[in-house]
Amino acid sequence: MKTKHLLSITDLSRRDILAILAISDTLKRGMKKTGKNKHFLAGKTLIMVFEKPSLRTHASFDIGMFQLGGHALYFGPEHIGLGVREPVEHAAKVLSSMGDVIMARVYKHETVVELARYSRVPVINGLSDLEHPCQILADIMTMREYKRALRHLRVAFIGDGNNNVTHSLVLGCALFGMHIAVASPRGYAMRPGIAATARQFAAKYGGSIMETQQPEVAIKGADVVYTDTWVSMGAEKEKHKRLKAFRAYQVDEKRMALAKSEAIFMHDMPAYLGNEVTKGVFDSKQSVVYAQAENRLHAQKGLLMFLLKSRGK
Ligand code: NVA
Repeated sequence: MKTKHLLSITDLSRRDILAILAISDTLKRGMKKTGKNKHFLAGKTLIMVFEKPSLRTHASFDIGMFQLGGHALYFGPEHIGLGVREPVEHAAKVLSSMGDVIMARVYKHETVVELARYSRVPVINGLSDLEHPCQILADIMTMREYKRALRHLRVAFIGDGNNNVTHSLVLGCALFGMHIAVASPRGYAMRPGIAATARQFAAKYGGSIMETQQPEVAIKGADVVYTDTWVSMGAEKEKHKRLKAFRAYQVDEKRMALAKSEAIFMHDMPAYLGNEVTKGVFDSKQSVVYAQAENRLHAQKGLLMFLLKSRGK
């Protein structure tokens, strides 16, 4: 059987995502009720490879494996040197001969694709320059908790369109028939290939994709308002240029008021208050950012069980 990887959110069908989140919901409920989960992943090892810093991804995968009775092994930026100290192919072959699943956070998306090409075990993209699929699993879980029905939900993303989180969010939301509007300045639109795939999903599942340069147009009537940093990891050299380009794209109280009154505010974090969002909006009653972050743990556990084919009892 072909090994299942999660490199793009599009590697999962709607059915797959619903199956993962059903496991996540059950594990979350169990955890809240009894403080523990059954050790479904006893004897299994997750190998985590980080080329970049991480808080939520690292914590959720590590704690998730622990709670399910498995083990997580951490390699930081200084440890492996993928493609530098040794070829990605060699690392993939060695790591997958020992571990049961690999999660990698990389600069270039091609690195995670190559890892998967040579790995005998599932490879999870824990963020690349192109996509952040694990984040979007937790986001869909969170939207479902706060908004119930996903179909026809109106989602506004304000900020960097050519961004891992934006790409996976738009693709994931389109899979569920949502209406998504992305407002970005000129030169920072989504990559055309991603936008085209999202449009195909939207046509198939009854949603829509709108790209605009006007935040107000995107936010008006939204159920969900989402933003992310203006300076992603790896783009630090462009910080000055980016802060200028995005200045008019802050999610502030005035803009938030254009969304539905019961709209929620989401952010994958780390958040730079005063840049992409004001402290007022981030800390407001509408903000679900901490619930969203916590759901990274539950979503990750569902994903690991799904990929390791342990559906629980
Ligand atoms: N777009 C951000 C996401 C951080 C989780 C980055 O790549 O830095």
